[in-house]
Amino acid sequence: MDLLSGKRLVLGVCGSIAAYKVAQLARDLTLAGALVDVVLTEAGARFVGPATFQALTGRPVLTNLWALPEDGVVGHISLGDQADALIVAPATANTIARIAAGMSDDLLTTTLLATRAPVLLAPAMNPLMYAHPATQSNLATLRERGYTILEPGEGRMAEHVAGKGRLPEPFTLEGELRALLGRTSGPLRGRHVVVSAGGTREPIDPVRYLGNRSSGQMGYALAAQARDCGAQVTLISGPTALTPPAAVAFVPVETTLQMQAAVTQACRQADILIMNAAVADFRPATATETKIKKQPDTQGMTLELVTNPDIIAGLATRRDLFKVGFAAETNDLIAHAQCKLERKGLDLIVANDAVASIGQPEIALTLIDHTGTQPLERRPKAEAAAMLMAALIERFQRRVLP
Ligand code: C5P
Repeated sequence: MDLLSGKRLVLGVCGSIAAYKVAQLARDLTLAGALVDVVLTEAGARFVGPATFQALTGRPVLTNLWALPEDGVVGHISLGDQADALIVAPATANTIARIAAGMSDDLLTTTLLATRAPVLLAPAMNPLMYAHPATQSNLATLRERGYTILEPGEGRMAEHVAGKGRLPEPFTLEGELRALLGRTSGPLRGRHVVVSAGGTREPIDPVRYLGNRSSGQMGYALAAQARDCGAQVTLISGPTALTPPAAVAFVPVETTLQMQAAVTQACRQADILIMNAAVADFRPATATETKIKKQPDTQGMTLELVTNPDIIAGLATRRDLFKVGFAAETNDLIAHAQCKLERKGLDLIVANDAVASIGQPEIALTLIDHTGTQPLERRPKAEAAAMLMAALIERFQRRVLP
């Protein structure tokens, strides 16, 4: 089930032109199953009207402390009190100052004062206003009080100046909110999870490489799942066409040797390694510095390959690290996977049919550990990732440490 399903969220929208971006956020959070109560400040309502948010969330939009419904369901206190999380986006210099001062002069500040739920603040304003010591001091105060504050982006602003003060995109805001909810109550809070994804590329010459068909979809979905469960996530990926999930540390690599260095480094502080990458077993013995030319008088060519190190097997002595491998096979799936579980010293191996799954949107999985096998029938990769993560966490929590 999606982390956001059934969650009560308050989305505070202040008076900035960036408010147009959070209409999309309100829609995305609602589609993910959350109950989104939008609270508009007076200035916020001048940029995007209540009707827009009401249509997108399917819920009444609240703007005025003195015009709340009389049935008591949404009182000026109960909104923050009942919320699982609050997000203020865009948060203007004025609202940030009022929150830092502990004021309760409108519905948004009152709601923020009367809550124990986690708060995510996404400042967006003119770069000079953002850099001003007053704003920075107010943000430092709120950070100290436990608010999560997002760094604004840098670039061109609406008023044609460039600088730091842009509201992050809805995709980033949603990812950061998911990470915050996960860190608050998720089963992996306090844990560090390393996920490898995509396929490696082994250079032959400056323009050619040996690669494979891995799309990275499964690994990226697993990284997002681990984040939603509260983990600090490092995603180490070969080249893919995908956008990395928000709120994860992203390390792009190309070759197996680069992936090995990045995985080994990230695993120093990690609790779980999910090695989903399709790693090349061999690489060209040498990559030429100039492009290999076809000779008119010769037929074919021979490429000399050397064996790559096995990244996960190289971590076999790390008994404290919970290691999950993948086995994509074309034949004798279970037998090959069982053999890899033992040979590579894994806690869990996830077997799948290589032809039916690599680069495809759906996947069927078989989970194999030292106690037996568990099949998960074919479903979209994001759903399969959620089921796999639940099964993985259950095994991680009952593992026996050396
Ligand atoms: O390629 P193979 O089927 O042996 O992959 C099984 C598991 O081992 C996968 O989790 C893969 O990411 C990992 N692996 C690795 N280093 C390699 C080859 C595979 O860590 N050189």
